[in-house]
Amino acid sequence: MDVYKIKGGNRLQGKVRVSGAKNSAVALIPAAILADSPVTIAGLPEISDVMTLQKLVEEIGGNVEIEEGKMTIDPSEIVSMPLPNGNVKKLRASSYMMGALLGKFKHAVIGLPGGCHLGPRPIDQHIKGFEALGAKVTNEHGAIYLRADELRGAKIYLDVVSVGATINIMLAAVTAKGKTVIENAAKEPEIIDVATLLSNMGANIKGAGTNVIRIEGVEKLHGTKHTIIPDRIETGTYMIMAAAIGDGITIDNVIPLHVEAVTAKLREMGVKVEVGEEQIYIPKTEKFEAVDVKTLVYPGFPTDLQQPFCVLSTQAEGSSILTDTIYPARFKQIDELRRMNADGRVEGRSAIITGPTAMQAATVRATDLRAGAALIIAGLIASGETEIQGIEHIERGYSQIIPKLKMLGADINKVEGLKTASISE
Ligand code: EPU
Repeated sequence: MDVYKIKGGNRLQGKVRVSGAKNSAVALIPAAILADSPVTIAGLPEISDVMTLQKLVEEIGGNVEIEEGKMTIDPSEIVSMPLPNGNVKKLRASSYMMGALLGKFKHAVIGLPGGCHLGPRPIDQHIKGFEALGAKVTNEHGAIYLRADELRGAKIYLDVVSVGATINIMLAAVTAKGKTVIENAAKEPEIIDVATLLSNMGANIKGAGTNVIRIEGVEKLHGTKHTIIPDRIETGTYMIMAAAIGDGITIDNVIPLHVEAVTAKLREMGVKVEVGEEQIYIPKTEKFEAVDVKTLVYPGFPTDLQQPFCVLSTQAEGSSILTDTIYPARFKQIDELRRMNADGRVEGRSAIITGPTAMQAATVRATDLRAGAALIIAGLIASGETEIQGIEHIERGYSQIIPKLKMLGADINKVEGLKTASISE
């Protein structure tokens, strides 16, 4: 088994550079297959989710080349082959192949997507959108079949604000005949990034980043070059880490507007966050106030940072209530943090954490990506040597995390093939 070993207690210092946004990357790659000539994406993060999507694109005949950190996808020989389980099961974003293949070929067969287990993750709103555009969608033996004679623009109101459904409907609608309006659309920066790429490929999209997106279908899309936005969740993870165990950390390649909710919460806790144009500096913090956090859709506090934030709350004076309104069951980290001495419990859709606690090293398991990030921060502040299992979840989404942390002075190592007792989920 591969694990991370962390000797906690080192105060971290220096500069860390944020990579390209995972949740953009996993949508930009499927978007690229809609073109009829090569699309180059610069700044993709080095994460296994990107590699899995690359394999999916190659499975259906796409030609992918990576050079100097740029991925070029040549979609000219792509065919609409069924994508059964295999790689599709490895990540949630494989669902974007539905919208992209439906848009390109008017039919697609795709296994149900996998991804982090955060409680139920339905795709009913994606399907509602595809159906409104004229597709017939059926679930046959665990695979989703999408078929349309033609796609026609439609007015689609999302009953739930969904990042995935908004992007997937955009992918299918950009080449549909006529006008599509997505109402109650998600407003996340990743949606703007995908809309920017599609527009540069020739699509006609207005309103991305607001809750009404208007798309005028075009006949075909062409290749282009695109640079991905920085990862706001990675940024927030390093901000929380810098507050918890930093001795002065600069986080570089940041769009500060994208992390305003995190900045506000950290300031409320007593952390001095210095915001520059593309950098955020966080000095050493001695004492933290307990604060309550409620996750909301963008621009609210992101659900993806709730888990790392729980660790910071263990260091705060008093009780903090962290409520996840997006994924009410996203609290698997709490049991693991309790192994490390945290005083935390889950009540309904909230975690209640009381501190400050002197965290102690333990053998723990990353049950999902952001729980993994939380455990790394916990390991960095704990006394003793922490072993983190389940690191494949972490490597799905954090680019170069070991070298980045080592540069900041962390004592963290990946140990491959370790014979160790496994903690089950
Ligand atoms: N939902 C529905 N029906 C749908 C779609 C979503 O009920 O058809 C519900 C979900 O169950 C959830 C809420 O709507 O309660 C929001 O889900 P959304 O569709 O916005 O999430 P997603 O697109 O599946 C993306 C990110 C997640 C992030 C969420 C929320 C990607 C690949 N994933 O997921 O990121 O937590 O948005 O911001 O973009 C992560 O990076 O660790 C991660 C899990």
